[in-house]
Amino acid sequence: MDDKKLKKMLCEFNITIDDLKQTAACVRYDIEQGLKNKPTSLKMLKSYIGLPSGAETGEYLALDFGGTNLRVVLVRLDGNGKYSIIKKIVKPLKVPGVYDFIGAQAKAEDLFDFIAGIIAEVIDGDKKKKYFLGHTFSFPSSQTNIYNARLITWTKEFATSGVEGHVVNDLLKEALIRQGFGNVEPIAVINDTVAVLLAAAYKSSDTYISSIYATGHNTCYFETYQGSDGKPMIINLEIGGFNKLVVNEYDNRLNADSELPDQQRMEKMVSGRYIGELFTYCMQDLFAAVGKIHFSSIDLSAILNDEETELPVIRKLIIERIGVEITRQEAENIKKLAAVIVSRSAHIVAASFCGVLWHIFPENIPAHNIVIDGSVFEKMPLVTDNMYRTLNEILGDESANVRLVLENGGSVLGAAVAAAMNK
Ligand code: BGC
Repeated sequence: MDDKKLKKMLCEFNITIDDLKQTAACVRYDIEQGLKNKPTSLKMLKSYIGLPSGAETGEYLALDFGGTNLRVVLVRLDGNGKYSIIKKIVKPLKVPGVYDFIGAQAKAEDLFDFIAGIIAEVIDGDKKKKYFLGHTFSFPSSQTNIYNARLITWTKEFATSGVEGHVVNDLLKEALIRQGFGNVEPIAVINDTVAVLLAAAYKSSDTYISSIYATGHNTCYFETYQGSDGKPMIINLEIGGFNKLVVNEYDNRLNADSELPDQQRMEKMVSGRYIGELFTYCMQDLFAAVGKIHFSSIDLSAILNDEETELPVIRKLIIERIGVEITRQEAENIKKLAAVIVSRSAHIVAASFCGVLWHIFPENIPAHNIVIDGSVFEKMPLVTDNMYRTLNEILGDESANVRLVLENGGSVLGAAVAAAMNK
């Protein structure tokens, strides 16, 4: 293992507090530019939905489409922030060697037929009763109303043909009709960040910012458009596309090899889909590894969780993946590398939250919850602590008012709430 290279890498992934303050300021600037329709690295997509009252009731189908697993759930909203799950089916969109609805060979029709089939299963093949469906579609889409989200571009390395440029609910409706389920009516489509905000707001008020920190990364907030003629609504920032960050050679290599070079630059530095890749590029360099080696964010988590003195988990992983025996000290250094990659991710995400907070609360920041869903936030070691550290370094005393709150399963509940708000 090349120790000199490792030292250099540790420096390259280190991010200074000045850089982070700059990130926060640039995020705020880009939001405000976007609101004036001026050039910005944020897509600032209108959701055409505001915040729920919490009194929404009724039975709805919720479709959560945006990660490796597809979820279809029949949800009953009871009002007062209460709800129950009546039936739920979760299926992967890709099973290696069996089927793949998200690769470049996959076609829109097959993908949406697959989805319609799962919806049919959830409603037990019922072709009579009317069902309203809320759809959480977690990709950048432009909307002119709550129904017609048109996919701008796939992200997270999805590549199914025939979906980009199309209204996803139309594709879904056509598939439902092909299978005789015209009684299922998609009536609302929202981004997953928006779903999480709706879910949190359904249960309690005073929540204006939500984020997904998982395979992908993104943030939305409730925009009041004070002093302008816009209608208050949630704005999906598509913050994964923010491009004013200091990048290093590994970020650039990953970017060049990705499905969409030069897009989603922030997402490629922070999200679960990519932090394992960054680590992989580093490991290839450190071990001059020929052939294909790969580490995922789950491996990063295992490395960071190895607390035993001799670091057996890390050493075993390196033997398995690279075929090299390493010393305890080398394992320690590999753990440091995993830590800087993960910590940088957490610092950047928290800095971007500061930019959003400054935009919403230009005077001073009141007690406020930022709701977050996603496995990186929930499970990755070092993430929460480093996020709070950055909030503190950027916001000073005001950071005591900000709480980062896990909102699990918001994509499903939010889809049902969106359907109820638009029935
Ligand atoms: C997508 C966003 C989504 C995020 C989290 C990103 O790749 O562009 O729309 O909110 O992933 O799922």
